[in-house]
Amino acid sequence: MELACGIFTPASSISDDDIRDIGVLLGCLSDHAPRVSPADLLEVAIESHLFVVSDLDAPRGNGYRIVAMATLVPKRQLMGCFGFVEDVATHPDYERRGISTWLNQQIIEHARRIGIKHLDLTSSPEREAANRLYLKLGYERRATNVYRKKLE
Ligand SMILES: CC(C)(COP(=O)(O)OP(=O)(O)OC[C@H]1O[C@@H](n2cnc3c(N)ncnc32)[C@H](O)[C@@H]1OP(=O)(O)O)[C@@H](O)C(=O)NCCC(=O)NCCS
Repeated sequence: MELACGIFTPASSISDDDIRDIGVLLGCLSDHAPRVSPADLLEVAIESHLFVVSDLDAPRGNGYRIVAMATLVPKRQLMGCFGFVEDVATHPDYERRGISTWLNQQIIEHARRIGIKHLDLTSSPEREAANRLYLKLGYERRATNVYRKKLE
């Protein structure tokens, strides 16, 4: 199996396969994941850094299948330039092969290159695999409260 990891840059157009693959990965993150449109995907790809791992041997029209993803959201604040990592998911058929470790290492290196001072992410305690992954990658658990104000 040949895998490639990089920033998702829709060269010409976003294919139905891309949308389907991303939809499956979002489904791994939430039962209530919204259905993404090509416009949504394009916007995220432009505003953030959407990293994907593609299986280049998967029989698909566009010659690859997106099997893992994570989004790096750089944020310039008064205190400096920081980054948030979101949407970390690997397709169930591809789990436990080091794919997310590889993808997240690429994100960390990229963040360092673009001057990000630290990366933050959140993960609920019951996501055992994810919490192990982050600890393995060198993230440290912080004692802080996470708040959310629902607007709809
Ligand atoms: C968490 C997730 C992204 C890991 O992806 P992956 O490509 O399988 O990860 P890796 O193969 O790189 O594994 C890295 C480490 O994660 C941990 N891990 C991964 N799968 C695991 C599992 N099923 N059980 C326990 N630990 C697991 C291990 O510590 C592993 O390191 P090891 O293999 O050296 O022990 C994937 O399981 C997933 O998509 N889960 C559902 C969505 C999710 O929870 N996303 C995180 C949101 S915060």
